[in-house]
Amino acid sequence: MKNVVLSTLLGITLGVMGSAAAAEALPPPAERVVDYHKDIAPIFSDRCLKCHGVKKQKSDYRLDTREDAIKGGSEGAAILVGNSAESMMVQLLAGLNEDFDLMPSKGDPLTAEQIGLIRAWIDQGAVWEGSGPSASSAAAEKRDDRVPFSGFGEGWVVEATAQKGPLATWEMIDEKGPAGEICVALSKPNHSSAGTFNLLCDTRTKFKNGQISVALKSISGEEDQGGGLMWRAKDKNNYYVARFNPLEDNLRLYQVKDGKRTKIANADVKKDFDVWTTLTVGQQGNKITISMDGKVLIESEATTFSEAGGIGLWTKADAATIFTRPKVTLN
Ligand code: HEC
Repeated sequence: MKNVVLSTLLGITLGVMGSAAAAEALPPPAERVVDYHKDIAPIFSDRCLKCHGVKKQKSDYRLDTREDAIKGGSEGAAILVGNSAESMMVQLLAGLNEDFDLMPSKGDPLTAEQIGLIRAWIDQGAVWEGSGPSASSAAAEKRDDRVPFSGFGEGWVVEATAQKGPLATWEMIDEKGPAGEICVALSKPNHSSAGTFNLLCDTRTKFKNGQISVALKSISGEEDQGGGLMWRAKDKNNYYVARFNPLEDNLRLYQVKDGKRTKIANADVKKDFDVWTTLTVGQQGNKITISMDGKVLIESEATTFSEAGGIGLWTKADAATIFTRPKVTLN
């Protein structure tokens, strides 16, 4: 805070100050080894990710992977690894750059101690791993397993079909759905396996006949985009899935049996990738109808899964997508 006041009072900006002077005006780096998960991630997630995360990227800057955090936004490199004094991020945190707002641009500035931790972290190599607790890294290290997901309540788990690397990261986000629903995002695939299906499953619901609705919106994906609903799931390898893929311009119904996916029906449909799309699945006996934005596009029949089973959200490969909490009607 002192530095901010000082630089404003004297009208000093980094441009006219040598880097030695800039380093002097900054809070000193912490004199210890910092741990990314314990010391740094909580600052980023409490104070920065709202504007520089999955949903919003102010100034084209996102801070949720090491690569992006270093690369910076529209102004270029935000972190010079090993040189915190000249890293743009640190200068913005201390309010030393006249051309930019102090970061965070809302709420109190970071304390000198927090800036010192970030400085030490950058000087020590901006390592993106650590020993501290982190839900997503715990999930990422667990293979071939399911991880409970508390955001939607009891019974929900993160798992995958044909898992080849870490599980994807699913997290609750601030954004609301088209009717004000709470939302979850598959924010980071964490793997580059094109054959993996990322699942967020409700294992408590026993769905046989009825309707399931969800609204979804793509965030990103090069290999794949979009996503959909799964139902009558016996386990992570056996279920029906209906998904919309804005990259392929189609809505499809598949069955996944013993981990192998087979197409049952297709409807070509074109739509922008980053707008809300509502999917509704109706199942009565062997009859399946799939509607998109209120219009029935697929009417089909399948006999593979006749028993009640779980429901869930589904994406493939590197598709990152936002979903509302699915609404289920049993009948
Ligand atoms: C309330 C929203 C908000 C929060 C919270 C926020 N920022 Fe920003 N950030 C912005 C905006 C807006 C800009 C563009 C500022 C400008 O042009 O003056 C920006 C720009 C930046 C830039 C420059 C990126 C570029 O290349 O253009 C960096 C680095 C940055 N912020 C880091 C952070 C860090 C680190 C935090 C958390 C300690 C943070 N921000 C918190 C809104 C925010």
